[in-house]
Amino acid sequence: MSILITGGAGYIGSHTSVELLKQGEDLVLLDNFSNSKPEVLDKIKEITGKEFRFYEGDMIDETVLHKIFTENHIEAVIDFAAYKAVGESVQKPVEYYINNVSTVLVLLNTMKKHGVKTLVFSSSATVYGDPEKVPITEETKTGGTTNPYGTSKYMVEQILKDLYHSDPEWNIAILRYFNPVGAHESGLIGEEPKGIPANLMPYIARVAAGSLKELSIFGNDYDTKDGTGVRDYIHVVDLAIGHFKALEKLRKDHQGLHIYNLGTGVGYSVLDMVKAFENANHVKVPYKIAPRRAGDIAVCYADPTKAKEELDFVATRSLEDMCRDSWNYQKNS
Ligand code: NAD
Ligand code: UFG
Repeated sequence: MSILITGGAGYIGSHTSVELLKQGEDLVLLDNFSNSKPEVLDKIKEITGKEFRFYEGDMIDETVLHKIFTENHIEAVIDFAAYKAVGESVQKPVEYYINNVSTVLVLLNTMKKHGVKTLVFSSSATVYGDPEKVPITEETKTGGTTNPYGTSKYMVEQILKDLYHSDPEWNIAILRYFNPVGAHESGLIGEEPKGIPANLMPYIARVAAGSLKELSIFGNDYDTKDGTGVRDYIHVVDLAIGHFKALEKLRKDHQGLHIYNLGTGVGYSVLDMVKAFENANHVKVPYKIAPRRAGDIAVCYADPTKAKEELDFVATRSLEDMCRDSWNYQKNS
């Protein structure tokens, strides 16, 4: 039996593939390389010394999915394939809804036809919008998303709830990630945003490398300890392990719809991140204070208790590990 990983060449998909291969899982990967490169596949093999099958194709294409399900004995799907740039989603809502919602409908329809009902879905803390309180539990109200990317994740969550309601034989884990950062310790795979990074950690790494002049800190007048925004940064390898734990839970339970926050439960400010990066790597990160970024919230961090109790998942990698591994990857790329 194999696990299908859609978006397997991407940032989180590649790290999850490594962790699953290490656990002895048999994998089939699908990617269209819209936001990744074929070389990543070789790196996954180099890190693990293991083989897997790969299909190049678009998840919107039912014929590709049908071929995968016909040629392989798929037990479960972990679905990473989506677009993820918040700002771009405001400019290209139709493309985002097609790629983040319609593709999932095609996937679910194909899974149904082939009798495969086990799914792990990549959601995001963005579904909580501006939360009423922190730490954020899974019971915290969702919705109130402020951009098409966030709304696309919220919509898919609703679709999965409706599907489970219609047929309780489905076995689904919705994972709401907080802020994934870092890279594999080998420095062979990591996050490689196209153009100027929109997210904090890759931006800091490029400033430290000298390819960008300085970091703009978006606001220092939030109601936080130092005025800068606070987030729950989680090492991507911990996040990847969380997917294995979720899969194990689904295998044990056979049916259900479960929602888990994947975070550390600790919030760090932008200034904490700058200092941690400088200290971990002995580099300088020049910065200036800039106006707030539209759509940003002040504070966002997880209550990770449910994942600990039900998945036995605890993120163990420190902020120093995250900074060191991001820099290691930046230096290699
Ligand atoms: P990524 O862009 O690095 O990876 C996504 C992969 O999917 C890429 O390799 C891309 O080429 C592929 N892909 C996209 N559309 C496809 C399609 N239609 N058919 C086949 N392949 C397709 O992104 P990531 O950071 O690895 O994110 C993975 C998932 O996690 C996404 O669903 C994203 O929305 C979600 N997520 C990411 C973050 C984050 O900060 N990175 C936070 C919360 C949730
Ligand atoms: N920030 C800066 N300067 C920058 C970039 C970011 O000061 O150049 C600040 C932001 O204002 C925020 C913090 O750094 O306070 C983190 O910003 P990111 O853009 O790295 O991350 P976000 O929390 O805004 O959003 C990310 C993903 C979303 C996802 C969310 C929760 O981009 O897709 O985490 O998982 F939904």
